[in-house]
Amino acid sequence: MVYLIASIAGIAGLLFGFDEGVIAGALHLLRAEFGISPLAEGIMTATVPLGAVGGALVGGWLARPVGRRKLLLGAALLFVGGALMSALASSLVIVCVARLLLGLAIGVAAMIAPLYISETAPARIRGMLVSIYQLAITLGILGAYLVGYTFSDSWRAMFAAGIVPGAALLIGIAILSDTPRWLVLRGRREEARAVIAKTQSLPVGHQQVSAELAAIEDAAKEDLAQGTWRDLFGPVARPALIVGMGLFLLQQLSGINAVIYFAPTVFKLSGFDSTSTQMLATVGIGVVNVLVTVLAMGLIDRIGRRKLLFIGFSGAALSLGLIAAAAATGAPDLQILALIGLVLYVASFAISIGPLPWVMMSEIFPLHLRGPGMSAASITNWVFNFIVVLTFPVLVADIGLAGVFSIYALVCVGGVVFTARLVPETSGISLEEIERHLKGGKPFSALARSVKTA
Ligand code: BGC
Repeated sequence: MVYLIASIAGIAGLLFGFDEGVIAGALHLLRAEFGISPLAEGIMTATVPLGAVGGALVGGWLARPVGRRKLLLGAALLFVGGALMSALASSLVIVCVARLLLGLAIGVAAMIAPLYISETAPARIRGMLVSIYQLAITLGILGAYLVGYTFSDSWRAMFAAGIVPGAALLIGIAILSDTPRWLVLRGRREEARAVIAKTQSLPVGHQQVSAELAAIEDAAKEDLAQGTWRDLFGPVARPALIVGMGLFLLQQLSGINAVIYFAPTVFKLSGFDSTSTQMLATVGIGVVNVLVTVLAMGLIDRIGRRKLLFIGFSGAALSLGLIAAAAATGAPDLQILALIGLVLYVASFAISIGPLPWVMMSEIFPLHLRGPGMSAASITNWVFNFIVVLTFPVLVADIGLAGVFSIYALVCVGGVVFTARLVPETSGISLEEIERHLKGGKPFSALARSVKTA
């Protein structure tokens, strides 16, 4: 079962990352072929996160009636179709439509994966599984950069490579059954029993299978008592909603995807002239992102969420400030400073601002509101991803790289303040304790202290 969940998390993360990163290598070719304006460039790039907002909404709405498996099947087909359509596109409008479809598929897959994890993963490894998801996102981004570097003169080949992760999802679905929990919720008890037996390689009548089925049935009773979106805004859940949505808002407005989607452009603006150097530096960014995410996986439970967030937001603010200052003053070593600044920025992000919102969204909501809470958080992620990606080319044309990075640096300073005032320390605290604290009505950020003194 654990492998099943890990592979869902992995494939969904790869898809997420691949489609975020692939545009980086393709943009300069599309610019040359279609002669696009900054606004058109923003719109075309942002069609993926825009489609994903729709996908997250559709996924949240249909996950229960339709089931996880069928939704993922639809997403996989869309994903392969979208990759083909974008690779064969004869105009920019077709590229945009294809990317919108791809976004839809990613939004669905990226919504179902955390749901799967939260529904099926044993609590003791949930953090690890959530981190696998973030790691897969970074691997998908790196894969897209490598594809961009390898097929550097054909945007069609780059987009066509997207068929590979789509096909991986199709294969994943072949080995996948719906979660026993969903089957139980639909009254398909015997099928649930068969799935449990199969994943544990035990006979259907085995005592361990019956015990697990009984545990799932108990948990499903709670699931049936799921709260509504309205409850999410009530006094108990509101502090969790503010933290869950706030962390994603800050994650996105810290400008990470200006770098992820537009890395070669950023290097070009910093004085790297040749396209192949820009692409190589971009691959370097992808590698740093992956390596530091691995480091983060080892640190998250040891250092604590708040401290890591302080480190991440401060490091990001300083490194963005460094790049902005170098660009504004036209520093003679701009290339080197920009490279150091970007590496430090991506490292600060990957150690903290990247994985932590995902980890925390799976632990802060009271159980009966976890579904709607996670949907709200994930939609926030895509909406602000969309806003940053849409506005980046226009802002750069208007106020320059220094101006744009100064705005992102200020947001990161805001992240330090937000963490200090509102974010609770959840590491080492059980989900039940978190829920009890929320119901007690004390400030959410006092969580660790109040639990220790209680
Ligand atoms: C974010 C993505 C981002 C990625 C970079 C994720 O946590 O949600 O928007 O592109 O990290 O590694």
